[in-house]
Amino acid sequence: MARLWLLLIAVCLFACKEKSNSEIAVEKEYPASPYSEKFRPQFHFSPQEKWMNDPNGLVYHDGVYHLFYQYYPDDIVWGPMHWGHAVSQDMIRWEHKPIALYPDEHGLIFSGSAVVDEKNTSGFGENGKIPLVAIFTYHLMEGEKAGRKDFQTQGIAYSLDNGKTWTKYEGNPVIGNDGIKDFRDPKVFWHEDSEKWIMLLVAGDHVKFYVSDNLKEWQHKSDFGKDKGAHGGVWECPDLFKLPVQGFDEEQWVMLVSMNPGAPNKGSGTQYFVGEFDGISFTTSQEDAKWIDYGMDNYAGVTYNNVPTGDRIFIGWMSNWNYARNTPTEVWRSSMTLPRKISLHKKEGEYFIKNIPLEQFSSLQNTMGEFSSVPLKSPFTLETELSLNNTDISFTAKLSEPLEVVYSNENGEKVSFLIRPEEGMLLLDRTQSGIIDFEESFGKEVQKQPFVPEEREVEIRLIMDASSLEVFVDEGKYVFTNQLFPKDVYTQLEIDWESDNAVQNFTYHTITSIWK
Ligand code: FRU
Repeated sequence: MARLWLLLIAVCLFACKEKSNSEIAVEKEYPASPYSEKFRPQFHFSPQEKWMNDPNGLVYHDGVYHLFYQYYPDDIVWGPMHWGHAVSQDMIRWEHKPIALYPDEHGLIFSGSAVVDEKNTSGFGENGKIPLVAIFTYHLMEGEKAGRKDFQTQGIAYSLDNGKTWTKYEGNPVIGNDGIKDFRDPKVFWHEDSEKWIMLLVAGDHVKFYVSDNLKEWQHKSDFGKDKGAHGGVWECPDLFKLPVQGFDEEQWVMLVSMNPGAPNKGSGTQYFVGEFDGISFTTSQEDAKWIDYGMDNYAGVTYNNVPTGDRIFIGWMSNWNYARNTPTEVWRSSMTLPRKISLHKKEGEYFIKNIPLEQFSSLQNTMGEFSSVPLKSPFTLETELSLNNTDISFTAKLSEPLEVVYSNENGEKVSFLIRPEEGMLLLDRTQSGIIDFEESFGKEVQKQPFVPEEREVEIRLIMDASSLEVFVDEGKYVFTNQLFPKDVYTQLEIDWESDNAVQNFTYHTITSIWK
């Protein structure tokens, strides 16, 4: 078996190489990092160097998907925040751009969003040029150090050249602070029904809604959430959007709210609520938090404004405040999740969302092996002298069947994904995955996610980059996103199950690097 695989892999590598080389020319604006450092993600976005956290200002305009992000250009730990910037035409291959927003006299530039002001409601447009407007939080360090509570305010900036250059509004801040210590992360969108701009931001333990005609003057309208969802930590980075309920003639609004700490598997995580929004306030009958991802590394995720297809596309920061500053990389710190499409579903009156990598991600797949017509026998093993740390593997399995998927290397390092129907739990075990000792909570406990066992066959998809594993079950109904730091790459995969025919349709792809 192992020999057959090696042969297959060698043939495919040879055949696939030419395709990948011609496909991946990425224009670089300034000297490129080799993107070949240990643990460097090959198909996830990471900055060339230094510290990155939340995605910011996700917006599409004029052929370009913008990805701004919390960035500290002088160190690989968090520091005075700027907005870094990258662009893409397909959200798969990214091109680095110069820093977009620098701190100023009002403070550091914390998280926020961006909109296309088509109707020039702000008046920033000139000579028919449509302004791109960024809305962000100012964090005044001096205020914080002096022990005041009013050091976070909201500011705006605009660009008339599709994000290349930015001008801060002279009337900043556009929303001041009456003494709310955590008052940040504005998400703004255009609300068609009321023809108004809506802003939601977080104030510690709840979301505040504001309304505006011109992005400069804002009126506070309502609050949401003090008595809903999870409150084990501070609320951060909210988002709100309308989605059709798949298979029903119905639409609902989905609110995302990140929270740190207090996530189900410790540290940072993102909860969501499904409900109604009337242009003034958000209401829901949902009492408890639902979580977009039970892995430990998907935080501060928000969605794109203005996507031409109308799809709702999400990017999260692939880290966790518990240990974000301590992960074992040296040139840069952390990366983003793959961009994912969010869809809304309903079963027995319960709403839930799914999130799954964009279809165009498969353009990076090299065909390596398919076992669609062969009955698989447990244990199914795949051994290679090459790396599994750049693969997209999928198969179908019955959600009523105990299952174990283990990636390992010759050092005995391993990471496992398990289905435990008798416990109603999915498990992700990175306790022996490699370097875990940089912070206690990283590899201490096996991660758990409740699920409903079903006879139905669903797809299990595992996408592994140099230092991450994203597991999607049933097209993103259940997700685990996690960083991993194996000392050597994983080279073996073993899948175990009990009943014949429970696992089928195994496919295995290596993924082309987007950086070379
Ligand atoms: C979330 C967050 C935001 C804040 C930013 C600062 O990770 O704490 O609330 O705006 O990071 O970098």
